[in-house]
Amino acid sequence: MAKISIASQDRVFVLTGAGISAESGLPTFRASDGLWAGYRIEDVCTPEAWRRSPAGVWAFYSARREAGQKAKPNPAHFALAELEAKLGDRFFLCTQNVDDLHERAGSARLVHMHGELAKSRCERECGRPPVEDHAIYRSLDEVGRCACGGRMRPHIVFFGEVPLEMERIQDEIHQSTLMLVVGTSGSVYPAASFVHWARQRGARAVYVGPEEPLNASAFTHVVEGKAGEALPGLFEVE
Ligand code: APR
Repeated sequence: MAKISIASQDRVFVLTGAGISAESGLPTFRASDGLWAGYRIEDVCTPEAWRRSPAGVWAFYSARREAGQKAKPNPAHFALAELEAKLGDRFFLCTQNVDDLHERAGSARLVHMHGELAKSRCERECGRPPVEDHAIYRSLDEVGRCACGGRMRPHIVFFGEVPLEMERIQDEIHQSTLMLVVGTSGSVYPAASFVHWARQRGARAVYVGPEEPLNASAFTHVVEGKAGEALPGLFEVE
């Protein structure tokens, strides 16, 4: 497999999706046996779902918390952590994933644009920050309340809500000379636009995954394969 050369002046922006956690045993969303095959987005991942049935939303995210806590990082997560160690502040990782496998593999220069399973926040815009929360709730009355009285909700960006850290993400894309996209179908925006933003600024763009993403035509290079097999040894760092 051809290697990806990273020169001393290159700045690397990495976007990951559910595919990078697939080999850790966590389901993706749009595969035939994916999360959206078993649940309706409108029942568990929208503001209306939260208003209508906070119990149903907590059941879905408690199950995903439990699965995430049992999962372990795979070679793909470790390969990105190693690349970060080599590149330092010339590396930035944006993940759409809400699991903490990147952190547990050693990644530190990252943001979770769709939120994090290991955090909860007040359902109201009371201004208090999200809190760390690993609890697996068996019923709604176990779920705590904010000091303002609001019920605690998963710190997840529901469909229709604004992704997190977009200013930092846009700034890092503007500085990047190489965009690496791993394990995402390119079906959700704004993440699916990132490759176009990078290309407009003359960056190279590489996709790694077993299937072509919807935005495949935007990539200068596609590495077909599973992330856990393709990422280790893929980079040639000057
Ligand atoms: N290695 C790399 N990629 C893989 C692997 C693997 N082992 N297995 C599957 N994939 C790829 C699939 O080919 C697919 O392109 O991972 C991608 C998963 O796509 P989705 O299930 O759509 O997940 P994702 O793109 O991360 O979804 C984006 O949608 O539902 C929302 O907020 C949710 O963050 C999520 C967003």
